[in-house]
Amino acid sequence: MKELEIKSGGRVISKIFAGAGISEVVDCFEGTETVYIVCDRKVESLAGSIASSINASGINHSGTLHVAGIMPVEVSEDLKTMETVLRINDRLLEMNADRNSFLLAVGGGITTDMAGFAASIYKRGIRFAFVPTTLLAQVDAAIGGKNGVNFHSYKNMLGVIRQPEFTYLSPQPLETLSMRDFISGEAELLKTFIIENNLESDNYVSAVRVFSAIHESSDISESIRTHSAKLQELIFAAASVKAGIVSRDQYEKGERRKLNLGHTFAHAVEWMAHSGLSEQDISHGEAVAIGIIQAAKLSEKAGLAEQGLAAGLEEDFKKCGLPVDLPFPLDSLAGAMAKDKKAEGGKIHFILIKCIGSVMIYDLAVEDAVRILDRK
Ligand code: GLY
Repeated sequence: MKELEIKSGGRVISKIFAGAGISEVVDCFEGTETVYIVCDRKVESLAGSIASSINASGINHSGTLHVAGIMPVEVSEDLKTMETVLRINDRLLEMNADRNSFLLAVGGGITTDMAGFAASIYKRGIRFAFVPTTLLAQVDAAIGGKNGVNFHSYKNMLGVIRQPEFTYLSPQPLETLSMRDFISGEAELLKTFIIENNLESDNYVSAVRVFSAIHESSDISESIRTHSAKLQELIFAAASVKAGIVSRDQYEKGERRKLNLGHTFAHAVEWMAHSGLSEQDISHGEAVAIGIIQAAKLSEKAGLAEQGLAAGLEEDFKKCGLPVDLPFPLDSLAGAMAKDKKAEGGKIHFILIKCIGSVMIYDLAVEDAVRILDRK
């Protein structure tokens, strides 16, 4: 099993393990634990297999493990609310979970966000860990300790930064993803390598190559299996980039903001899409892809990147099956962008791209960003 550590102040605050089958999660626990599982209802049978492996093994390298209950929850962006978090807490209370209990979340980023938040407030905080089942959660949402829910029209407005004991990455659940869910995760993985790329292995180029091949195939599960080794390598490389950034800036005072590349535009697109102003169905990952292209255009027009950056990214993203065009006029997004919780003193920390592998934080008022983007 491969392992990464997230550190802060010289101390390990979270671990990331990458193994093969889902049952290997047993080896990630340290010590004796009574485990409660919260899962997305869509992966209930996977959560059941995890519970069976834990209960069958009963013991890991350092203690006794026991799954005392499974809580399936309905998961969607609209249900990513305080009410669902409180419902998880209700169930924990009903099942007599105590302060030493351990919550394991199995699902995508919405599930891990809500479970991490629920665990953080239950009896003033119990320990928790994640088994992310989507590509998006494996490379981004389930790493770094941001656990939040939507509030009114604001995305992830209520929440905490509190680290999971571990995040276990297994390729097994990825084989059941639909093409659309897989594609949604591609955007966050490509985002990571646009922020930091290893020039020797050129992870960005490798990722585009693998994703294009998967996108072209008619059988996504088969194609994910065919490319599994390379995919696992890329997921681990992306997790490693994120672990490094979070280790250096856990509370997003500076460098961690870079992980928001494309997200100001993306959140505005999602807000518009979910606000009833439009019937467009746009996933988070799709919105991030669109947002990265806007960030690239802004970078070029602000004179920070060479001409051609945005066109090159557009070509790569299209090959991977990602959308690139803004679904709403830029002007109509401006109001939604200003709602971004990252706005400070009227300005937003836009993340602009100098070239693949290098980005910078650039503070701009929304109206200035729109004015620059409108330049011919
Ligand atoms: N998803 C961005 C971050 O964890 O900072």
